Amino acid sequence: MYSTRISVAALLALVPFALAAPATTSATTTSDSAAATSSTSTPSAPPLRSHPTSISHGPFHGTATTTGALTAASGILGTAISSLPPNPNATTYPSDGKLHDPQPAPYVPAGGVGTNGTPPVYNAKSDFDYESLALALYQEWIELDLFHNGLARFSVEDFQAAGLTAEDRFLIEFMADQEIGHATMVSNILGAQAPQQCQYNYPYTNVREFVDFCQKLTRFGESGVYGFLGHLDSREAATLLLQSITTEARQQMIFRQFEGLFPMPVWFEVGVPQSWAWSLISPYIASCPANQTRLAWQNFPALWVLNQPNPERINGSSGFNETISAGMNTMNATVPSNDSCINATTVGENCNPAITHNRTIPLSFPGRKVYFEWETPGKAVGPNNSYITSSEAGSPKFVAWVTQLNVTYSALTLNGSNSTAGWTTQPNVSTYQGDPAINGTMFVAITDDNPFLTPFNLSLINPHVVAGPALYQSG
Ligand SMILES: *[C@@H]1O[C@H](CO)[C@@H](O)[C@H](O)[C@H]1NC(C)=O
Ligand SMILES: *[C@@H]1O[C@H](CO)[C@@H](O)[C@H](O)[C@H]1NC(C)=O
Ligand SMILES: *[C@@H]1O[C@H](CO)[C@@H](O)[C@H](O)[C@H]1NC(C)=O
Ligand SMILES: *[C@@H]1O[C@H](CO)[C@@H](O)[C@H](O)[C@H]1NC(C)=O
Ligand SMILES: *[C@@H]1O[C@H](CO)[C@@H](O)[C@H](O)[C@H]1NC(C)=O
Ligand SMILES: *[C@@H]1O[C@H](CO)[C@@H](O)[C@H](O)[C@H]1NC(C)=O
Ligand SMILES: *[C@@H]1O[C@H](CO)[C@@H](O)[C@H](O)[C@H]1NC(C)=O
Ligand SMILES: *[C@@H]1O[C@H](CO)[C@@H](O)[C@H](O)[C@H]1NC(C)=O
Ligand SMILES: *[C@@H]1O[C@H](CO)[C@@H](O)[C@H](O)[C@H]1NC(C)=O
Ligand SMILES: *[C@@H]1O[C@H](CO)[C@@H](O)[C@H](O)[C@H]1NC(C)=O
Ligand SMILES: *[C@@H]1O[C@H](CO)[C@@H](O)[C@H](O)[C@H]1NC(C)=O
Ligand SMILES: *[C@@H]1O[C@H](CO)[C@@H](O)[C@H](O)[C@H]1NC(C)=O
Repeated sequence: MYSTRISVAALLALVPFALAAPATTSATTTSDSAAATSSTSTPSAPPLRSHPTSISHGPFHGTATTTGALTAASGILGTAISSLPPNPNATTYPSDGKLHDPQPAPYVPAGGVGTNGTPPVYNAKSDFDYESLALALYQEWIELDLFHNGLARFSVEDFQAAGLTAEDRFLIEFMADQEIGHATMVSNILGAQAPQQCQYNYPYTNVREFVDFCQKLTRFGESGVYGFLGHLDSREAATLLLQSITTEARQQMIFRQFEGLFPMPVWFEVGVPQSWAWSLISPYIASCPANQTRLAWQNFPALWVLNQPNPERINGSSGFNETISAGMNTMNATVPSNDSCINATTVGENCNPAITHNRTIPLSFPGRKVYFEWETPGKAVGPNNSYITSSEAGSPKFVAWVTQLNVTYSALTLNGSNSTAGWTTQPNVSTYQGDPAINGTMFVAITDDNPFLTPFNLSLINPHVVAGPALYQSG
């Protein structure tokens, strides 16, 4: 059953990369590529995956024909992944700067994976690979639609009032074009059943909210991939995916700059589990085509940050109930004009688009009281309302702060006997001296425990997630 995919992928390995994209035969067409190849000035290049160029937006009103995450026909073997002792081989390499094994060739140190001369095969090599790449594809598709939708929905005057020029709008258009490329590349890796573009429902009502939505959506697009990249069985797919996600990382920073935020207030970009990215993205996917390939990831109950710092305010911390959605907790940009940082005339207060801005009053600070509200499991969410939120966790006890290289927990105080609302205190933690860990657009979740976890095993947090994640606009 894999023969087509493998032969195509093997071809991909043996010919210059630019010739390889016709790989996904059934999913590849015509209109964009036909236009490209008919142009005498455009060199021949692989076609893009076809996709609807005009799609409607808004909520889904219908009944799901199927519900729940994809599960294996062959069964589920346990209730959670158990912890194991370290692999004894993990620490045997001396790491002393000397060469310890014969070199396979001049200038080539021994070791590495995929370094022995076998041709790379750019396909999925396990269910883990397929589901992770398919999730990444859902993300590329929504970004393609999102960037176009902002340009279509708001007028030139709307963009100008938000400080964004014709050149800035072209950059957004170019970012949409990058997404067609990324969607094509991931589709070619996945093959004929690669998820298709869906229809979406966005909460933003003006340009500044659109930009904040993009800044937050690209944050979990990027972090969602960092969470699984090093775990893929397919090193080949990981290599190509990384080459698209580094582009996404630039997009995230540009949207921060369009919002007038400090472009990169952290030393490391965080990674999060697939189910976190899926929980964050799926509320905005209204419906997908009937034969859409489904995903195996979990949808957690939604989480609101009630006093989410609002980048539209001179004092972002003073915002309360100023988000337009759970999960991403996108800002509501309608704030009292005397509190608005747009067109503010003082350095440190102004937040118009710029390469960088100092903020005299930081968006958040250690010791800040942060208020949350969350849903209980069992809600229908995502494409065609066909996924159901769930949690395997016990009672809510902690807030997990997932940022840079760190997972830090703070105690959660419930609102009396109410088990779906509470508050915590923003921790004071640094990755290294001089780098406060909690800054930028980062992740929080409500958990029932505080297991010690690090970037490579963060997904072990999932059975402990009561609700979330939410994006916290800490800086
Ligand atoms: C450790 O390395 C040896 C030699 O490469 C291998 O045979 C063995 O299976 C490894 N053990 C583990 C637990 O991976
Ligand atoms: C900011 O200034 C621009 C240019 O003067 C104007 O078009 C826009 O309406 C102003 N925005 C706000 C929120 O005051
Ligand atoms: C889904 O169905 C449409 C229409 O029949 C077809 O064009 C498309 O290739 C199918 N997609 C998949 C992934 O099977
Ligand atoms: C985040 O980083 C910016 C830039 O260094 C700094 O001005 C701000 O105070 C930091 N915020 C927090 C919460 O540490
Ligand atoms: C989802 O809804 C769309 C739009 O109503 C419909 O075309 C599609 O068949 C539905 N998909 C599933 C899996 O039911
Ligand atoms: C910003 O707002 C918060 C919350 O209202 C308040 O505690 C803080 O004192 C304000 N900061 C400044 C510098 O005004
Ligand atoms: C937030 O505002 C909405 C209306 O904008 C209101 O319905 C809701 O009760 C408010 N939530 C809180 C916690 O104040
Ligand atoms: C944003 O806040 C304004 C003022 O409180 C309110 O009128 C508007 O409905 C809010 N927007 C959204 C999308 O919730
Ligand atoms: C803006 O006006 C409100 C209401 O008059 C006031 O509470 C607030 O402190 C003012 N903000 C600033 C930054 O002066
Ligand atoms: C920006 O913030 C940094 C760090 O607080 C400070 O050293 C610098 O002087 C500030 N620059 C301006 C122009 O405000
Ligand atoms: C718990 O808090 C939520 C959010 O504030 C509220 O909707 C719900 O009614 C409260 N439940 C009880 C039992 O007080
Ligand atoms: C944060 O990460 C750094 C780097 O891995 C580590 O040294 C430090 O102990 C972590 N801090 C906490 C509170 O987990």
